[in-house]
Amino acid sequence: MARIISVVNQKGGVGKTTTAVSLASILAEAGRLVLLVDMDPQGNATSGFGYNSRDMQKGLYEVLLGETDFRSIALDTIVRGCRLAPATMSLAGASVELVNMEQREFRLKMAFAEVDHVYDYIIIDCPPSLGLLTVNALAASREVVIPVQAEYYALEGLGQLVNTINLVRENLNPDLSVLGVVLTMYDKRNRLSRDVMDEIYQHFPDRIFRSVIPRAVRLAEAPSHGKPITLYDAGSKGARSYEKLAREIIATESAPAQIKV
Ligand SMILES: Nc1ncnc2c1ncn2[C@@H]1O[C@H](COP(=O)(O)OP(=O)(O)O)[C@@H](O)[C@H]1O
Ligand SMILES: [Mg+2]
Repeated sequence: MARIISVVNQKGGVGKTTTAVSLASILAEAGRLVLLVDMDPQGNATSGFGYNSRDMQKGLYEVLLGETDFRSIALDTIVRGCRLAPATMSLAGASVELVNMEQREFRLKMAFAEVDHVYDYIIIDCPPSLGLLTVNALAASREVVIPVQAEYYALEGLGQLVNTINLVRENLNPDLSVLGVVLTMYDKRNRLSRDVMDEIYQHFPDRIFRSVIPRAVRLAEAPSHGKPITLYDAGSKGARSYEKLAREIIATESAPAQIKV
């Protein structure tokens, strides 16, 4: 069965998509079969692999509505073993349309039933909100990775995120656990960053990845070339830091996260 991991934080611009795309690629390069699910109507994971959402006929939206399935929408990417379930423009309307549907929190989970034995990993890139799309992702996941930008205001909203995860666990998905928090855009010269780090340690004492993602211009450039960092600049410090993170995740394959926040 696939290890299903949501990359979640309701704040925009904290590195969710960069983390999801980088991890999916690196896990595939390490020999895993990976499905990256673009759950954000902005379609940044889709464009990050060089696809244009506007050209897509079908995507995640149609899957959530039950009109098609993952097998029909999954696209090959330039990374062997990494496939992409693209977001299309219509996904923006999904959170409203799903409200009146049966099993509205479980649309993604139901759709996974048909592919979760095919992939080793399913990585979900969540939108910057705690709405129904994110709830679908959390209801369908076993684990959560939370990117937190190493900035002073980054901890705002973290309590609300933890509450949402707890609510989903209590009401929709008892198996959900936090795999870890990853610090992104870290600048060790910046005193503020270290303060933020200390505070996050207090929030999630044993749930912080050892790998920290530095602020790195190559990571910011890669999406505009339609490539994950490991293909854009394999030797860059951004690529190496995400490789370390992926190794930490691979190391927990035999014993996925059990600890609940
Ligand atoms: N470690 C990093 N260093 C520099 N720029 C980054 C880094 N991580 C992400 N970025 C850039 O910051 C912006 C927001 O990142 P993104 O992954 O899209 O965040 P989110 O998905 O949470 O909105 C993007 O332009 C991205 O290329
Ligand atoms: Mg994003």
